[in-house]
Amino acid sequence: MDTYQKLSLKAATFVASQIILKPDSVLGLATGATPLGMYRQLVTMYEKGLVDFKEVTTFNLDEYLGLDEKDPQSYSYYMHYNFFQHVNIEPQKRHIPRGQAENRERTCREYDEAMDGAGGIDLQILGVGLNGHIGFNEPDCKLQTATHVVQLTQDTIKANSRYFECLEQVPRQAISMGMASIMQARKVLLLASGASKKEVIQQAVGGEITTECPVTLLQLHPDVTIMVDKEAAPLL
Ligand code: GLP
Repeated sequence: MDTYQKLSLKAATFVASQIILKPDSVLGLATGATPLGMYRQLVTMYEKGLVDFKEVTTFNLDEYLGLDEKDPQSYSYYMHYNFFQHVNIEPQKRHIPRGQAENRERTCREYDEAMDGAGGIDLQILGVGLNGHIGFNEPDCKLQTATHVVQLTQDTIKANSRYFECLEQVPRQAISMGMASIMQARKVLLLASGASKKEVIQQAVGGEITTECPVTLLQLHPDVTIMVDKEAAPLL
């Protein structure tokens, strides 16, 4: 796709098609800058009556630990502000890991149980970190299958500090959906925009499959669609 706008429109059309074909779809949702344009387009489609979210269930990939859901830096706030408040997804069908959970283990377990109870994810939308993380599954010698608490890497803390006033404000921990939920999603849509993502997209498509770059594991998934803009694509 030439531009971020075209990428966003195409991604939104992909998601809308999923919902039109299966109105009670379970969507896995991502945050970050990349899917913002897609959410905007989905809101426009909803306002025009082209897509209806009333039977849709959503599960977000991740949330920072320690942030209140009303904190503008939390992913809960992001989802509400950029998407949920504009469309008709029922509040009880929206799921985001709780960043202020007291019993973290139980919260993680309940998140997986809720996903299982909903029948698993039909379409998982993903962005990718510069270091290859998906959700907050960070590069490591091993990866976790289930929803879990993550210590963010220095690379991620630095990369995500662009959304905070300073590096010190970036939370050091998060809750992330595990690799099993992502890999068991029936379809995956991976989005990337901008020149900074060109190396990681090259790795995602053709690099060695390794837990040190979690996005490469998608090469083992049977139904992945990758959409990138021109700037993220030159090495493909
Ligand atoms: C964050 C999120 C990821 C997201 C990634 C890329 O750390 N946890 O889910 O895909 O960073 O974000 P961006 O789209 O802003 O580059």
